[in-house]
Amino acid sequence: MNVKNNYLDKINFDNLPKHIAIIMDGNGRWAEKRFLPRTSGHKEGVKRVMDTVEECGNLGIKYLTLYAFSTENWSRPKKEIDYLMKLLVKFIKNKLEEIHKNNVKLNILGDLNRFDKNIIKEVEYAVELTKNNSKLILNIALNYGGRDEIVRATKRICNDIINNNISIEEINEEYFKRYLYTENQSDPDIVIRTSGEKRLSNFLNYQIAYSEFFFLDINWPDFHKNSLHKVIFDYQQRNRRFGNI
Ligand code: IPE
Ligand code: IPE
Ligand code: MG
Repeated sequence: MNVKNNYLDKINFDNLPKHIAIIMDGNGRWAEKRFLPRTSGHKEGVKRVMDTVEECGNLGIKYLTLYAFSTENWSRPKKEIDYLMKLLVKFIKNKLEEIHKNNVKLNILGDLNRFDKNIIKEVEYAVELTKNNSKLILNIALNYGGRDEIVRATKRICNDIINNNISIEEINEEYFKRYLYTENQSDPDIVIRTSGEKRLSNFLNYQIAYSEFFFLDINWPDFHKNSLHKVIFDYQQRNRRFGNI
């Protein structure tokens, strides 16, 4: 990817994406290339998380969704999982103040129940503290799986039907969205995956029906502001038709 040009000046601010979703992949490979342990890739990756949150806020993006830990990532070695959890808590502790000050609302996609109590406490505190913020909604996908989300939504709908809260006739595609973790947010306009992998790995299966995809050949720790600017610029050159002509 050519990121030597300055793409910020080329962005059309009247046609910004509302929602950007990112599969932050390639931390391990970034580290291995440098003969470092995989954990140092995760550590470097966290820095890009903060840069990206900050930049999306500056640009005026409304929703940013970051895939941090999938339902399948539990199959990794315990040591790596423990390290990722430690990073998560550290990230919240170190960055919450800044996030809050920047009017960012933190929202979690995924089932937190599988996490340790201290992690749940930290995350819930952050969500509660930032709940009235409105500049940028930051969705962090933790123990998230797109299929799991759809199954969960289906169960919740069944419950509402059984309890006579809704009728079967009321359910349609839009209504179904209310039962997803993203509730009433607009669908991602852009899905970015770093690392060169071209798959979705169970990310936002329902929401990405008409998203524009960007598979980048850089690893997540190398995703800097200008990479984001270039994606937005390229997105603005695409012609979204939504089935129309
Ligand atoms: C993404 O990087 C971070 C998480 C999945 C938590 P990886 O850890 O998947 O890095 P690679 O894909 O092995 O290089
Ligand atoms: C996807 O990356 C999940 C996250 C970035 C959190 P993975 O590294 O887990 O995906 P696969 O295993 O390559 O499909
Ligand atoms: Mg990976």
